[in-house]
Amino acid sequence: MSEAKVWDRLAGRYDTIVRLFDTSYGQVRERLERDLPERGRVIEIAAGTGQFTGELARRADYLMATDVSPAMVDRLRRRVLEEGIAAGIAAVDCAVMSAYAIEAPDGSFDAAFCANALHVMDAPERALAELRRVLRDDGVLIAPTFLHGVDGFRHGLSQTLGLISPFVAHTRFDLVSLTRTIAAAGFKVSYAERMRGLFPLGYVVAEPLATTQEQRSGDARGN
Ligand SMILES: C[S@@+](CC[C@H](N)C(=O)[O-])C[C@H]1O[C@@H](n2cnc3c(N)ncnc32)[C@H](O)[C@@H]1O
Repeated sequence: MSEAKVWDRLAGRYDTIVRLFDTSYGQVRERLERDLPERGRVIEIAAGTGQFTGELARRADYLMATDVSPAMVDRLRRRVLEEGIAAGIAAVDCAVMSAYAIEAPDGSFDAAFCANALHVMDAPERALAELRRVLRDDGVLIAPTFLHGVDGFRHGLSQTLGLISPFVAHTRFDLVSLTRTIAAAGFKVSYAERMRGLFPLGYVVAEPLATTQEQRSGDARGN
């Protein structure tokens, strides 16, 4: 089943299910105060039903909140309207979009946010490469990601969830493999913290490594 179809099926129950696992979300919101630029253009990928969209919007001049699942984006749009999330900032756009093909020009965002999603993508490295592409060289990536591979208990629990629900963790990260995956996509990890929870959360902040003119022309040639 495609990623969009899996999450379309889970969308109606997502806000209830996430409460079992989101004990670290309050801490993430606190860290965002510290780590997100105070203004600027922000992209959120895999936004789900908008657990963090309000926090991002409050600090942005412009926010593009996206997800691959149309059912998730329906709920996200509703939340943005009902909670008045767009009030006070220049604009919030909600869009159905795959993290593997972000519809935005190179270097067009000051900050990128991807919460609780790299482990559920079948190709997280493609999403990270796209995030690197759309970020400015002096931008920031913030990627809190559940760590399903920290120990045998969490590994087993993650496998069981895959058997009893449509949920699939494609990559069972620990903090080291998560930071390595992010670094391999062209980032320098500036902060990494493991937050406690049924599944611990790896909270990672990373800066893009500068792209050279040579790399840019290579990319344009499809190398
Ligand atoms: C566990 S939810 C996280 C939602 C929200 N960010 C949160 O922290 O609660 C994972 C989200 O990733 C989205 N997703 C999965 N694969 C994706 C992809 N390739 N591109 C964009 N979104 C994707 C799903 O549709 C789902 O909404």
